Amino acid sequence: MKTLTTVGEMQAAAAGVRSLGRTIGFVPTMGALHEGHLALVRRCRQESDVAVVSIFVNPAQFGPQEDYLNYPRDPERDTELLRRESVDILFAPLVEEIYPPDYQTYVSVERVSEPLCGRFRPGHFRGVATVVLKLFNIVQPHRAYFGRKDAQQSVIVQQLVRDLNLPIEIVVHPIVREPDGLAMSSRNAYLRGEDRQAALVLYRSLGRARELIERGERRADAVLREMRALIEQEPRARVDYIEVVDAASLQPLARIGGRTLIALAVWIGGARLIDNLLVEETPDGFRFHL
Ligand code: PAF
Repeated sequence: MKTLTTVGEMQAAAAGVRSLGRTIGFVPTMGALHEGHLALVRRCRQESDVAVVSIFVNPAQFGPQEDYLNYPRDPERDTELLRRESVDILFAPLVEEIYPPDYQTYVSVERVSEPLCGRFRPGHFRGVATVVLKLFNIVQPHRAYFGRKDAQQSVIVQQLVRDLNLPIEIVVHPIVREPDGLAMSSRNAYLRGEDRQAALVLYRSLGRARELIERGERRADAVLREMRALIEQEPRARVDYIEVVDAASLQPLARIGGRTLIALAVWIGGARLIDNLLVEETPDGFRFHL
């Protein structure tokens, strides 16, 4: 595995790969890698000739009160994990390489950035869209891989690619969970003591939503009420939002049908966790992606 740190080196490597007619698969990350990232890396490895992973903790997507400085970082461990997965190139730039002192261009994907996490993290998705577009221009991938745990991020990146005519296929991979159901996330590292057990309330509430829909409930407000009641039984949990939205537009739905996303963000102690359930209506009934 080669580790590259400058934009020039990475662009030259990408041009070399492309000139040989080989395909580039790309997994952008902020490091603190876990099995969720590694599932994306394995799929990328299988589906492309050359696998590139970036590690860059992007300051532009953290609010002033957020955890940029304390975000978990473990570059040695991450490098070793990626080496074991036979990644070809690790792109790990410094902040000044991506945002030099005179930097002044930002990208906003408008409507789909507004609801859900957009309401609670102003500027977050502007930072995500900006760095993802920059990374795409630097890495020049044919395909890029994102996890469905960050469902809104995936929708935003798909919209960005469509709107700006980027010739990149966006692959959205299922959520990877711990054996007890907790969605894998670098922020799980913040869960201390009893918070780890309390965090299971997100998965349980989504399981409850699934049961209700399986039993014929279609009213979004009824599903949301039950989910909220279940979460409120957990004293360590504080809800930012629980919503039933259309999986493509992210606009609220009154009834479950078509492709529905049930998404939530909940604070457990000092960790803000997100999770979701994708419900797809098919001619044979509902399919659940938890
Ligand atoms: O999902 C993440 O880790 C980040 O938001 C991403 C896509 C790497 C952009 O910084």
